[in-house]
Amino acid sequence: LWKPGHIIAESIEKIRAKVGTDTVLLGLSGGVDSSVAAALLHKAIGNQLICVFVDNGLLRRGEADQVMATFARHLGIKVIRIDAESRFLEALAGVVDPEAKRKIIGRVFIEVFEEAAAKLPNVQWLAQGTIYPDVIESAGGKTGKAQVIKSHHNVGGLPEELNLKLLEPLRELFKDEVRHLGTELGLPFDLVYRHPFPGPGLGVRILGEVKKEYADLLRLADAIFIEELHAHDWYDKVSQAFAVFLPVKSVGVMGDGRCYDFVVALRAVESVDFMTARWAHLPYDFLDHVSRRIINEVSGISRVTYDISGKPPATIEWE
Ligand code: XMP
Repeated sequence: LWKPGHIIAESIEKIRAKVGTDTVLLGLSGGVDSSVAAALLHKAIGNQLICVFVDNGLLRRGEADQVMATFARHLGIKVIRIDAESRFLEALAGVVDPEAKRKIIGRVFIEVFEEAAAKLPNVQWLAQGTIYPDVIESAGGKTGKAQVIKSHHNVGGLPEELNLKLLEPLRELFKDEVRHLGTELGLPFDLVYRHPFPGPGLGVRILGEVKKEYADLLRLADAIFIEELHAHDWYDKVSQAFAVFLPVKSVGVMGDGRCYDFVVALRAVESVDFMTARWAHLPYDFLDHVSRRIINEVSGISRVTYDISGKPPATIEWE
């Protein structure tokens, strides 16, 4: 019988046997997998775990603070937070191609992470929140069977140059098992049942060139959408929902004047495996309410659209 308590006890034993008195480094993204891996490792080896959390400036509103609150303050895990927003934005300046953006974000992440790792003496292990579907996915990629539509940089791991032994405590688990484990380990429900968020973050939700101004507007609009989904009990009924920033301007009227501002698209999908998805049939009244809030509260955005494309042919993310 599959029991989270069982798996935890078993994993803890295995981790302790492997790691001994060594130090383990983990890149914390704020996503479910790395979070559960962190909580599990912390339970097994306490302060021998050091987490590095990179704020790339492409996170959702309040996300970096939330990660620090949950892990550092609440769970007492050692987390080194690195503010690398300007470094990512500088590297992305002028780049419009989605795959090029993904590669840059992946590369800068590795650079920043390696620099942080180099400053930590005596680390022997690199832990990753790899789960079973990632193992299958990358195996498919290697044999060339899986067609690469988008390069998912955070699947597959960090470079060998780090010279660390790899620790993947969730490698045999499916997503729902990882969630059960996280709950059992005391992670907050909101974190454990959070929608997936792509590694390149808002970098692939801002179409074309990424600018701080765009990221700031998108964060506000996205936060309103997510807040309203929670408030109207829709968040847990859809598989993934977010706002997308369109760098085009359209004309509107605000108060007595004419305005000429940016557009955001809202996207919400239902999906089992994220390989196919249908757009969520959110109620018109709900969409109306969210649209009004965004236009009223986010100055710089004057038009909101709702994405009614299925996957296929459209992908879930816009880039
Ligand atoms: P698409 O857009 O390919 O998305 O239909 C399927 C799922 O994968 C997520 N996604 C990514 N995740 N790095 C990630 O870690 C990426 O580059 C990436 N691109 C898409 C997307 O959010 C959805 O859940």
